[in-house]
Amino acid sequence: MSVKDWKSKKEIVRLLYNEMSDEQVIVRIYYDQGNFNFTLEGLIDFYKYRWGKPGRPLLKRNNKYIHFFKVLSIELGLDEEVFGNQIVYGDLIDFMRALPVEGLERVRSAINNHEIEDKLIEKCIESELNLITKQFDEPSQNLNLNIEVPKSASWFAIYHKSGEKKKTIEQAFFNNSLDQSAFYQTPESVLRWQQIIEHPLYEGFDACKGTLKKFVKTSHWKSLINSKDFDGCIVLTGGGAPEKDLIITSSIINEITPKKPILHALIDTSSYMLSYSINFIEERINTNLNVLSSYIDFKFLECDIFQLSDLWLKKKGKNYCWFIPGGTLGNLSEKAVFELLASQCNEGDMLVLGIGIVPTSGRAEDIGRLKDQLIEEYKSDEVMDLLKIPIQSLCGVFNQKNNLVENVMKTWKLDVLEDNESSDVKGSLTPVASVELESKERVELFKSTRYDLDELILFAKKYRFEYINNISHGDESYCQVVFKREATR
Ligand SMILES: C[S@@+](CC[C@H](N)C(=O)[O-])C[C@H]1O[C@@H](n2cnc3c(N)ncnc32)[C@H](O)[C@@H]1O
Repeated sequence: MSVKDWKSKKEIVRLLYNEMSDEQVIVRIYYDQGNFNFTLEGLIDFYKYRWGKPGRPLLKRNNKYIHFFKVLSIELGLDEEVFGNQIVYGDLIDFMRALPVEGLERVRSAINNHEIEDKLIEKCIESELNLITKQFDEPSQNLNLNIEVPKSASWFAIYHKSGEKKKTIEQAFFNNSLDQSAFYQTPESVLRWQQIIEHPLYEGFDACKGTLKKFVKTSHWKSLINSKDFDGCIVLTGGGAPEKDLIITSSIINEITPKKPILHALIDTSSYMLSYSINFIEERINTNLNVLSSYIDFKFLECDIFQLSDLWLKKKGKNYCWFIPGGTLGNLSEKAVFELLASQCNEGDMLVLGIGIVPTSGRAEDIGRLKDQLIEEYKSDEVMDLLKIPIQSLCGVFNQKNNLVENVMKTWKLDVLEDNESSDVKGSLTPVASVELESKERVELFKSTRYDLDELILFAKKYRFEYINNISHGDESYCQVVFKREATR
């Protein structure tokens, strides 16, 4: 197998790189590509041994494939969960859709000015891309949903639940442990979170995005969003991951017929994480995804999910798809989350949970390896940076005069607890991070449970969530489990 539509992709690369003046990259891609071995075996090598995961042979960093595809995806501005994936496997139309707007415009003008002669590119530009834009534009006018917004203003408001008071750090601290929500209540937490998800050891974010891309291709999803009672998606603890929101909403725009406005709600306690999502989504709306604003009714609600009572965003008799992506379930009390879901979800609603999973074979050495990996992952500087501010606040709460954050950080410890010790779901593995304050008391900072899939399915069943399927993508320690809310018996 060779790289799909490679000749045309290469032509686009040549066109775009000429403007980017990175000589080295031009040389590699334009002149040197004949030296790359684009065979199936070569590519499997590239993906299989990427980053030298435990138990796998280490891939040398200077490997020509890594360098080639990494540079190529970065330079083209493609949003890829695995560098090179889209470039290799996607066809030309996927490749072109993933280009930044300026890139696509450049290709379009090059075709119009006969700077490049490539029948396939021409066909894609003329037929499919135009068709898509047209499809979106026409009904939006019919529906009269175009809103005029002054250029500098924000398109979206952040809604608050009336009467809800934000937890103070004291209120977020109970049973000697700190509530997750306390971590994201400062402006720089957004940056800290970004640094974590960009860290090579933290693969969860990319795995989640890749899995979502697969999920939106499943028949279960397509049949839900095309059903007459489908009204939208509600993402709990959803701030800070706008790429995922765009995967979901783009799929809705592409898949549903006839087009109708659909809710996409993010609920999160952190206004900073919500603002980050808003800015990211707005930027897309203002450029290539203009159409999103016409069909997707984005709503941003700053609220503790456990304080939700009657969610005004939902309509009676309608169905929703609920998401808790990114493994956040593992940071929370599963019992509390499922009680909340059980109180909110209607019969026929879908639930998509992103979870970390324990090795299915359950062999002692696999679990041991996972423990080592988790300890390594969580002691990164990026995780420490996220923890510093809440620790500082805790020192304030306890009036710890001599407890400089640096001193407290030195007492940082990660235990990996098994089974029910720190989770409501049997067979779990739970890394728990803690620090010691001056009073010598250990304070639990966060937990991040990995689940035994079968046990989680049984647990969900108690709350009338029936297992549909699970989806994974590249990373065997992460998956998305899909459930459907059943009727009362
Ligand atoms: C790990 S981060 C971001 C997760 C992100 N939505 C994703 O999919 O990758 C967890 C998010 O959960 C939010 N959060 C934690 N506890 C919450 C609660 N009780 N109610 C609402 N949001 C909460 C935090 O504010 C933060 O934005």
